[in-house]
Amino acid sequence: MLQPGRTLLSSPRIQSRVAEMASEIRGHYGAELPVLLGLMNGALFFLSDLMRNLPPEAEFQCSVVGSYEGTASSGRLQGLDTIGENLRGRRILIVDDILDTGLTLSKVDERLLELGAEEVKICVLLSKRVPRRMEVTADWVGFEIENEFVVGYGLDHNGRYRSFEDIRVLDEVADK
Ligand code: XMP
Repeated sequence: MLQPGRTLLSSPRIQSRVAEMASEIRGHYGAELPVLLGLMNGALFFLSDLMRNLPPEAEFQCSVVGSYEGTASSGRLQGLDTIGENLRGRRILIVDDILDTGLTLSKVDERLLELGAEEVKICVLLSKRVPRRMEVTADWVGFEIENEFVVGYGLDHNGRYRSFEDIRVLDEVADK
């Protein structure tokens, strides 16, 4: 049975890194803020904490995309049609919870360019140290992590554990 185990990243550590990333993002864009495109559901808390550390003029939108079944990528990405056509001509900052195989971010990036976005950059809270299935370079990365399945702060296992304020490793525990 899989259950949340040790804490990998505490809530204060996450909050301070998110504030730091927002400051780097502000420094990069100056007054020309991009539209933040949050990939739901995993990026829910990261997007909202990032937004609270950006100027009030910052705009955001959300799309619901996903490829995960349990703890593995199915290799098929669903939900690309939830990306709004109103992003044509805009500078976009994709905000996602975690970069793993690279499938999600490469497909979303491709779709945004197809829709005519002026520029697309990527910001992820976590990046797993694994070989990518698709080539993706994130412009802002909160933390590099090993190849462990993590939950909390928006990340889930079959829809559960998203609301933990910290990020924990999912461990195999013996059934009672
Ligand atoms: P890809 O493989 O497309 O993965 O780069 C990105 C999406 O996969 C999910 N993912 C995880 N979700 N804990 C999770 O809760 C994990 O350790 C994990 N690894 C990948 C997530 O939805 C992410 O956006």
